Amino acid sequence: MKVLSVFGTRPEAIKMGPLVRALHAAPGIESIVCITGQHRAMLDQVMSLFDIHPDHDLDVMVANQTLNGLCSRLFAKLDALYEQVQPDRVLVHGDTSTAMTAALAAFHRRIPVAHVEAGLRTGDLQQPWPEEMNRRVIDVVADHLFAPTNSSRYNLEQENLAGRISVTGNTVIDALKQTVERIDQDATLRTSIDAHFPFLESQRKLLLVTGHRRENFGGGFENICRALAELALRDDLQIVYPVHLNPNVQGPVHAHLGGLDNVHLIPPQDYLSFVRLMQRAHVVLTDSGGVQEEAPALGRPVLVMRDVTERPEAVQAGVVRLVGTDPARIVAAVHDACNGPRVAAHFIADASPYGDGRASARIVAALRGEPFDEFVAAHAAPLSQSSLSEVTP
Ligand code: UD1
Ligand code: UDP
Repeated sequence: MKVLSVFGTRPEAIKMGPLVRALHAAPGIESIVCITGQHRAMLDQVMSLFDIHPDHDLDVMVANQTLNGLCSRLFAKLDALYEQVQPDRVLVHGDTSTAMTAALAAFHRRIPVAHVEAGLRTGDLQQPWPEEMNRRVIDVVADHLFAPTNSSRYNLEQENLAGRISVTGNTVIDALKQTVERIDQDATLRTSIDAHFPFLESQRKLLLVTGHRRENFGGGFENICRALAELALRDDLQIVYPVHLNPNVQGPVHAHLGGLDNVHLIPPQDYLSFVRLMQRAHVVLTDSGGVQEEAPALGRPVLVMRDVTERPEAVQAGVVRLVGTDPARIVAAVHDACNGPRVAAHFIADASPYGDGRASARIVAALRGEPFDEFVAAHAAPLSQSSLSEVTP
């Protein structure tokens, strides 16, 4: 079976990395990788960390790309690729323009599609935009739906898609677990990663920030920057913000926060370094999807700068709080979280509602038609603070 995996952005590469490695090792599968290059620098960082060498690189990114410009380049190049490769199946991940066009272009050629991270929903097409539309389109055309959790299975069943669903856990936990093991087992590696952040002071609490959502461009980002500028006045805090390369993010963030002593604006970090920063953080402030899944698995409280989330599990477990983009709400929530105790950053994948590190193995088994046990989250309320030991910062 010729399986063509198509991905193109940083989070897709992180979440597809462990799966691609498992597919390469699986008997009976010819595993072919196409990166679209929807991202360039941020994608290449992940490819080299996971040591994945793509068979095809469509190199579609242009600076400040529009959605229609991006999608039209993707459709044209993917169609030519499918003609050349003639895959038996196309595998896509999540909800990016790469994933949506790769699925639809395969559907147009009657090539079966499998969707990794199927069934996430907010119920609002505007949030996140355009991702809520992308993932719905993919789920309609795919014949294998790999839902990470039971609630994503439920969402798919509500859309009459039962019968194609397997609950596998999220491959992000596979990637995180493998990366944390590398960091934890190698003191030299830890020291060399920490050397990238000589400005960090151990007596100050670390607030780690990321943000990039299109629906937050303009007013949303202005508000986020206003909140961070106010938080920077707190002298027991240090703010570290790896700034996404999108010019709509770089512009306002550097303009508003560039000169502030207490705010470290740094380039996007490779995955090892970013995981290390999550381990060292007191609290994480983000609008990212993946970070909402990872930080709770490291025992880190997460404040999410959105009004709704497609990842309700960690909210229900009490470690993720939705704070929107209102500056006063963000500031109050960070004060709250910083005044609480810091918890140990040991890996608690056994208790993550998002996975147990074996999602890739389940997906490979499903693609090969082999039996496997579906993912079941270990506890109903898995991430209560009482399950974590307290440490001083
Ligand atoms: C994309 C995805 C979003 C995902 C996010 C992860 C879509 C529509 N959006 O959003 O779902 O959450 O990636 O980060 O698929 N850029 C660079 N170098 C890079 C990456 C980006 O310069 O390595 C700049 C370019 O100017 C590019 C712009 O960022 O045009 C936007 O990239 P794009 O992939 O269109 O959107 P993201 O906001 O990154
Ligand atoms: N990440 C990273 N370096 C950074 C910031 C984030 O490697 O400087 C990782 C993070 O751990 C997560 C993924 O990138 O796995 C999230 O990507 P992003 O927020 O861009 O996209 P989203 O998850 O919102 O689609």
